[in-house]
Amino acid sequence: MSEDERFISGTKMPLEEENSAEMRLRPETLSEYIGQDAIKREIDIYIQAAKNRQESLDHVLLYGPPGLGKTTMAMVIANEMGTSIRTTSGPAIDKAGDLVALLNDLEPGGILFIDEIHRMPRFVEEMLYSAMEDFYIDIIIGEGETARPVHFPLPPFTLIGATTRAGSLSAPLRDRFGILAHMDYYTTKDLQTIVQRSAKVLQAKVDDEGAIEIARRSRGTPRVANRLLKRVRDFAEIEGTGMVDAHAAHHALELLHVDRAGLDKMDHDLLLTIIEMYRGGPVGLNTLAAYIGEDVETIEDMVEPYLLQEGFIRRTPRGRMATEKAYMHFNLPFELDH
Ligand code: ADE
Repeated sequence: MSEDERFISGTKMPLEEENSAEMRLRPETLSEYIGQDAIKREIDIYIQAAKNRQESLDHVLLYGPPGLGKTTMAMVIANEMGTSIRTTSGPAIDKAGDLVALLNDLEPGGILFIDEIHRMPRFVEEMLYSAMEDFYIDIIIGEGETARPVHFPLPPFTLIGATTRAGSLSAPLRDRFGILAHMDYYTTKDLQTIVQRSAKVLQAKVDDEGAIEIARRSRGTPRVANRLLKRVRDFAEIEGTGMVDAHAAHHALELLHVDRAGLDKMDHDLLLTIIEMYRGGPVGLNTLAAYIGEDVETIEDMVEPYLLQEGFIRRTPRGRMATEKAYMHFNLPFELDH
Protein backbone atom coordinates (compact mmCIF):
# COMPACT_ATOMS: atom_id res chain seq x y z
CA MET A 1 0.00 0.00 0.00
CA SER A 2 1.42 3.39 -0.89
CA GLU A 3 1.16 6.31 1.47
CA ASP A 4 -1.48 7.88 -0.75
CA GLU A 5 -3.70 4.83 -0.50
CA ARG A 6 -3.40 4.71 3.24
CA PHE A 7 -6.55 6.32 4.46
CA ILE A 8 -5.11 7.83 7.60
CA SER A 9 -1.86 8.63 5.88
CA GLY A 10 0.00 11.73 6.88
CA THR A 11 0.64 12.52 3.22
CA LYS A 12 -0.47 15.97 2.32
CA MET A 13 -1.94 17.32 -0.87
CA PRO A 14 0.35 19.62 -2.83
CA LEU A 15 -0.58 23.18 -1.89
CA GLU A 16 -1.82 24.05 -5.36
CA GLU A 17 -4.17 21.06 -5.33
CA GLU A 18 -5.70 21.89 -2.02
CA ASN A 19 -9.24 22.95 -2.58
CA SER A 20 -10.64 25.99 -0.91
CA ALA A 21 -12.26 23.94 1.86
CA GLU A 22 -8.82 22.63 2.75
CA MET A 23 -7.47 26.15 2.82
CA ARG A 24 -10.36 27.33 4.95
CA LEU A 25 -9.54 24.69 7.55
CA ARG A 26 -6.18 26.30 8.13
CA PRO A 27 -6.03 28.79 10.99
CA GLU A 28 -4.56 32.14 10.00
CA THR A 29 -3.38 33.54 13.30
CA LEU A 30 -1.54 32.17 16.33
CA SER A 31 -4.64 32.65 18.46
CA GLU A 32 -6.72 30.54 16.06
CA TYR A 33 -4.06 27.85 15.96
CA ILE A 34 -5.04 25.09 18.39
CA GLY A 35 -2.42 23.14 20.37
CA GLN A 36 1.41 23.30 20.26
CA ASP A 37 1.13 25.85 23.09
CA ALA A 38 4.82 25.98 24.00
CA ILE A 39 5.82 26.70 20.40
CA LYS A 40 3.12 29.32 19.95
CA ARG A 41 4.16 31.16 23.12
CA GLU A 42 7.80 31.21 22.08
CA ILE A 43 7.20 32.19 18.46
CA ASP A 44 4.78 34.93 19.49
CA ILE A 45 7.59 36.60 21.46
CA TYR A 46 10.12 36.31 18.61
CA ILE A 47 7.59 37.76 16.17
CA GLN A 48 6.78 40.71 18.41
CA ALA A 49 10.48 41.38 19.05
CA ALA A 50 11.38 41.20 15.34
CA LYS A 51 8.49 43.50 14.45
CA ASN A 52 9.49 46.01 17.15
CA ARG A 53 13.01 46.13 15.77
CA GLN A 54 11.68 46.16 12.20
CA GLU A 55 13.88 43.19 11.38
CA SER A 56 13.17 39.95 9.58
CA LEU A 57 12.38 37.03 11.85
CA ASP A 58 15.28 34.67 12.54
CA HIS A 59 15.25 31.42 10.52
CA VAL A 60 12.88 28.77 11.89
CA LEU A 61 13.18 24.97 11.73
CA LEU A 62 9.93 23.11 12.37
CA TYR A 63 10.39 19.41 12.91
CA GLY A 64 8.19 16.50 13.84
CA PRO A 65 5.97 13.80 12.33
CA PRO A 66 3.91 14.55 9.23
CA GLY A 67 0.45 16.09 9.44
CA LEU A 68 0.98 18.15 12.58
CA GLY A 69 0.63 21.54 10.91
CA LYS A 70 4.16 22.62 9.98
CA THR A 71 3.05 24.26 6.72
CA THR A 72 0.11 25.84 8.52
CA MET A 73 2.44 27.19 11.21
CA ALA A 74 4.70 28.70 8.52
CA MET A 75 1.71 30.46 6.97
CA VAL A 76 0.54 31.70 10.35
CA ILE A 77 4.02 33.09 11.04
CA ALA A 78 4.02 34.95 7.70
CA ASN A 79 0.59 36.34 8.44
CA GLU A 80 1.58 37.44 11.95
CA MET A 81 4.76 39.05 10.59
CA GLY A 82 2.63 40.85 8.00
CA THR A 83 4.76 39.51 5.16
CA SER A 84 4.43 37.24 2.16
CA ILE A 85 5.47 33.59 1.93
CA ARG A 86 6.65 31.42 -0.95
CA THR A 87 6.55 27.69 -0.51
CA THR A 88 8.64 24.98 -2.08
CA SER A 89 10.13 21.65 -1.08
CA GLY A 90 13.66 20.31 -0.76
CA PRO A 91 13.57 17.92 -3.72
CA ALA A 92 11.95 20.58 -5.97
CA ILE A 93 15.03 22.82 -5.84
CA ASP A 94 17.44 21.04 -8.12
CA LYS A 95 19.27 23.90 -9.80
CA ALA A 96 21.32 26.72 -8.32
CA GLY A 97 19.23 29.17 -10.34
CA ASP A 98 15.99 27.90 -8.69
CA LEU A 99 17.20 28.96 -5.29
CA VAL A 100 18.50 32.34 -6.47
CA ALA A 101 15.18 33.02 -8.22
CA LEU A 102 13.12 32.03 -5.18
CA LEU A 103 15.13 34.18 -2.81
CA ASN A 104 15.46 37.11 -5.18
CA ASP A 105 11.69 37.26 -5.67
CA LEU A 106 10.98 37.67 -1.98
CA GLU A 107 10.00 41.04 -0.62
CA PRO A 108 12.43 42.31 2.05
CA GLY A 109 11.60 40.42 5.24
CA GLY A 110 9.63 37.84 3.23
CA ILE A 111 9.52 34.15 4.05
CA LEU A 112 10.73 31.19 2.05
CA PHE A 113 9.18 27.94 3.28
CA ILE A 114 11.06 24.78 2.32
CA ASP A 115 9.17 21.60 3.17
CA GLU A 116 11.11 18.34 3.46
CA ILE A 117 14.25 20.39 3.80
CA HIS A 118 16.26 17.24 4.63
CA ARG A 119 15.75 16.14 1.01
CA MET A 120 17.44 19.20 -0.52
CA PRO A 121 20.39 18.43 -2.80
CA ARG A 122 23.72 18.89 -1.07
CA PHE A 123 24.92 21.76 -3.29
CA VAL A 124 21.70 23.70 -2.68
CA GLU A 125 22.16 23.22 1.03
CA GLU A 126 25.68 24.61 0.77
CA MET A 127 24.43 27.66 -1.15
CA LEU A 128 21.96 28.31 1.62
CA TYR A 129 24.69 28.78 4.24
CA SER A 130 25.74 32.26 3.06
CA ALA A 131 22.18 33.15 2.11
CA MET A 132 20.95 32.42 5.63
CA GLU A 133 23.89 33.97 7.41
CA ASP A 134 24.74 37.07 5.38
CA PHE A 135 22.04 37.30 2.68
CA TYR A 136 24.13 36.62 -0.39
CA ILE A 137 24.79 33.74 -2.76
CA ASP A 138 27.94 33.19 -4.82
CA ILE A 139 27.46 30.97 -7.83
CA ILE A 140 29.62 29.98 -10.77
CA ILE A 141 28.10 30.90 -14.10
CA GLY A 142 29.32 29.29 -17.33
CA GLU A 143 31.72 26.40 -17.77
CA GLY A 144 35.44 25.81 -18.37
CA GLU A 145 37.30 28.88 -19.64
CA THR A 146 34.28 31.15 -19.39
CA ALA A 147 33.24 30.10 -15.88
CA ARG A 148 33.11 33.05 -13.53
CA PRO A 149 31.82 33.60 -10.02
CA VAL A 150 28.80 35.87 -9.63
CA HIS A 151 27.87 37.48 -6.35
CA PHE A 152 24.12 37.88 -5.70
CA PRO A 153 23.15 40.08 -2.77
CA LEU A 154 19.71 39.09 -1.47
CA PRO A 155 16.98 40.92 0.40
CA PRO A 156 16.84 40.02 4.09
CA PHE A 157 14.50 37.06 4.47
CA THR A 158 13.37 34.34 6.83
CA LEU A 159 13.83 30.71 5.91
CA ILE A 160 11.32 28.37 7.48
CA GLY A 161 12.36 24.77 7.01
CA ALA A 162 10.18 21.78 7.82
CA THR A 163 11.36 18.24 8.28
CA THR A 164 10.13 14.97 9.68
CA ARG A 165 13.68 14.15 10.69
CA ALA A 166 15.84 16.81 12.29
CA GLY A 167 18.54 14.15 12.60
CA SER A 168 18.92 13.96 8.81
CA LEU A 169 19.89 17.62 8.59
CA SER A 170 23.59 18.34 8.47
CA ALA A 171 24.95 20.13 11.53
CA PRO A 172 26.01 23.26 9.57
CA LEU A 173 22.48 23.70 8.23
CA ARG A 174 20.79 22.96 11.55
CA ASP A 175 23.06 25.44 13.31
CA ARG A 176 21.95 28.26 11.03
CA PHE A 177 18.39 28.15 12.31
CA GLY A 178 17.99 30.52 15.24
CA ILE A 179 14.60 29.07 16.21
CA LEU A 180 14.09 25.32 16.53
CA ALA A 181 10.55 24.17 17.14
CA HIS A 182 9.71 20.55 17.80
CA MET A 183 6.10 19.84 16.96
CA ASP A 184 4.50 17.06 18.94
CA TYR A 185 1.42 14.88 18.56
CA TYR A 186 -1.75 16.67 19.68
CA THR A 187 -3.77 15.72 22.73
CA THR A 188 -7.23 14.24 22.21
CA LYS A 189 -8.67 17.41 23.76
CA ASP A 190 -6.89 19.66 21.23
CA LEU A 191 -7.94 17.38 18.36
CA GLN A 192 -11.53 17.51 19.57
CA THR A 193 -11.36 21.32 19.46
CA ILE A 194 -9.84 21.16 15.96
CA VAL A 195 -12.62 18.81 14.78
CA GLN A 196 -15.25 21.15 16.20
CA ARG A 197 -13.62 24.17 14.59
CA SER A 198 -13.35 22.36 11.24
CA ALA A 199 -16.97 21.22 11.48
CA LYS A 200 -18.01 24.83 11.85
CA VAL A 201 -15.95 25.86 8.82
CA LEU A 202 -17.38 22.96 6.77
CA GLN A 203 -20.89 23.55 8.13
CA ALA A 204 -21.04 19.94 9.31
CA LYS A 205 -23.17 18.89 12.28
CA VAL A 206 -21.03 17.26 14.96
CA ASP A 207 -21.87 16.52 18.59
CA ASP A 208 -19.35 16.23 21.45
CA GLU A 209 -19.21 12.43 21.41
CA GLY A 210 -18.71 12.35 17.64
CA ALA A 211 -15.89 14.87 17.86
CA ILE A 212 -14.22 12.97 20.72
CA GLU A 213 -14.47 9.67 18.86
CA ILE A 214 -12.81 11.16 15.76
CA ALA A 215 -10.19 12.88 17.91
CA ARG A 216 -9.31 9.61 19.69
CA ARG A 217 -8.78 7.77 16.44
CA SER A 218 -6.70 10.42 14.65
CA ARG A 219 -3.22 9.33 15.74
CA GLY A 220 -2.60 12.68 17.40
CA THR A 221 -2.66 14.31 13.95
CA PRO A 222 -4.91 17.19 12.80
CA ARG A 223 -4.60 16.24 9.12
CA VAL A 224 -5.97 12.79 9.95
CA ALA A 225 -8.70 14.29 12.15
CA ASN A 226 -9.89 16.56 9.35
CA ARG A 227 -9.95 13.70 6.86
CA LEU A 228 -11.84 11.42 9.20
CA LEU A 229 -14.32 14.20 9.91
CA LYS A 230 -15.12 14.56 6.20
CA ARG A 231 -15.56 10.83 5.67
CA VAL A 232 -17.67 10.33 8.81
CA ARG A 233 -19.84 13.26 7.75
CA ASP A 234 -20.46 11.52 4.41
CA PHE A 235 -21.62 8.39 6.20
CA ALA A 236 -23.74 10.40 8.63
CA GLU A 237 -25.44 12.29 5.82
CA ILE A 238 -26.14 9.28 3.61
CA GLU A 239 -26.69 6.44 6.06
CA GLY A 240 -27.29 8.13 9.39
CA THR A 241 -29.14 11.06 10.86
CA GLY A 242 -26.92 13.71 9.30
CA MET A 243 -25.27 14.29 12.66
CA VAL A 244 -21.67 13.22 13.21
CA ASP A 245 -22.24 11.45 16.53
CA ALA A 246 -20.54 8.51 18.26
CA HIS A 247 -22.66 6.01 16.33
CA ALA A 248 -21.81 7.48 12.91
CA ALA A 249 -18.13 7.72 13.88
CA HIS A 250 -17.99 4.07 15.03
CA HIS A 251 -19.76 2.81 11.96
CA ALA A 252 -17.72 4.84 9.47
CA LEU A 253 -14.36 4.18 11.08
CA GLU A 254 -15.03 0.46 11.17
CA LEU A 255 -15.70 0.51 7.44
CA LEU A 256 -12.52 2.53 6.94
CA HIS A 257 -10.52 -0.07 8.95
CA VAL A 258 -9.45 2.46 11.52
CA ASP A 259 -9.56 0.67 14.86
CA ARG A 260 -10.43 2.05 18.31
CA ALA A 261 -6.83 3.16 18.91
CA GLY A 262 -6.68 4.89 15.51
CA LEU A 263 -4.48 2.14 14.05
CA ASP A 264 -4.96 1.15 10.42
CA LYS A 265 -3.97 -1.79 8.27
CA MET A 266 -0.36 -0.70 7.95
CA ASP A 267 0.00 -0.47 11.73
CA HIS A 268 -1.64 -3.87 12.09
CA ASP A 269 0.65 -5.40 9.47
CA LEU A 270 3.71 -4.06 11.24
CA LEU A 271 2.66 -5.09 14.74
CA LEU A 272 1.40 -8.52 13.71
CA THR A 273 4.55 -9.21 11.72
CA ILE A 274 6.67 -8.53 14.79
CA ILE A 275 4.38 -10.59 17.01
CA GLU A 276 3.55 -13.51 14.76
CA MET A 277 6.61 -13.86 12.56
CA TYR A 278 9.30 -12.81 15.02
CA ARG A 279 7.72 -13.80 18.34
CA GLY A 280 7.57 -10.17 19.42
CA GLY A 281 11.00 -9.20 18.13
CA PRO A 282 13.58 -7.84 18.14
CA VAL A 283 13.49 -7.53 14.38
CA GLY A 284 15.51 -5.13 12.23
CA LEU A 285 13.81 -2.35 10.36
CA ASN A 286 15.00 -3.54 6.94
CA THR A 287 13.63 -7.02 7.53
CA LEU A 288 10.31 -5.61 8.71
CA ALA A 289 10.08 -3.28 5.73
CA ALA A 290 10.71 -6.13 3.29
CA TYR A 291 8.20 -8.35 5.04
CA ILE A 292 5.33 -5.87 4.90
CA GLY A 293 6.29 -4.45 1.50
CA GLU A 294 6.95 -0.86 2.53
CA ASP A 295 10.07 1.18 2.26
CA VAL A 296 12.13 1.88 5.33
CA GLU A 297 11.63 5.63 5.10
CA THR A 298 7.83 5.30 5.08
CA ILE A 299 7.94 3.12 8.15
CA GLU A 300 10.36 5.41 9.97
CA ASP A 301 8.52 8.63 9.15
CA MET A 302 4.87 7.66 8.98
CA VAL A 303 4.22 4.46 10.87
CA GLU A 304 6.68 4.02 13.70
CA PRO A 305 6.61 7.40 15.43
CA TYR A 306 3.02 7.06 16.60
CA LEU A 307 3.42 3.40 17.58
CA LEU A 308 6.50 4.34 19.61
CA GLN A 309 4.85 7.32 21.24
CA GLU A 310 1.81 5.25 22.22
CA GLY A 311 3.98 2.42 23.50
CA PHE A 312 2.98 -0.30 21.03
CA ILE A 313 6.59 -0.90 20.03
CA ARG A 314 10.02 -0.31 21.51
CA ARG A 315 13.25 0.42 19.72
CA THR A 316 16.21 -1.62 20.92
CA PRO A 317 19.76 -1.85 19.59
CA ARG A 318 18.84 -5.21 18.06
CA GLY A 319 15.63 -4.01 16.39
CA ARG A 320 11.98 -3.31 17.05
CA MET A 321 10.01 -5.16 19.69
CA ALA A 322 6.27 -5.38 20.29
CA THR A 323 5.24 -4.36 23.81
CA GLU A 324 2.70 -5.94 26.14
CA LYS A 325 0.31 -3.16 25.11
CA ALA A 326 0.54 -4.36 21.49
CA TYR A 327 -0.28 -7.95 22.51
CA MET A 328 -3.20 -6.72 24.60
CA HIS A 329 -4.47 -4.65 21.70
CA PHE A 330 -4.87 -7.83 19.66
CA ASN A 331 -6.03 -9.90 22.65
CA LEU A 332 -2.97 -12.08 22.34
CA PRO A 333 -1.12 -13.61 25.31
CA PHE A 334 2.11 -11.76 26.09
CA GLU A 335 4.98 -14.19 26.30
CA LEU A 336 7.02 -13.89 29.43
CA ASP A 337 10.43 -14.18 27.83
CA HIS A 338 10.10 -10.57 26.65
N1 ADE B 1 -6.51 22.71 11.44
C1 ADE B 1 -5.46 21.90 11.28
N2 ADE B 1 -4.57 22.07 12.26
C2 ADE B 1 -5.07 23.01 13.08
C3 ADE B 1 -4.61 23.62 14.27
N3 ADE B 1 -3.46 23.27 14.84
N4 ADE B 1 -5.36 24.56 14.82
C4 ADE B 1 -6.53 24.89 14.25
N5 ADE B 1 -7.01 24.35 13.15
C5 ADE B 1 -6.30 23.42 12.55
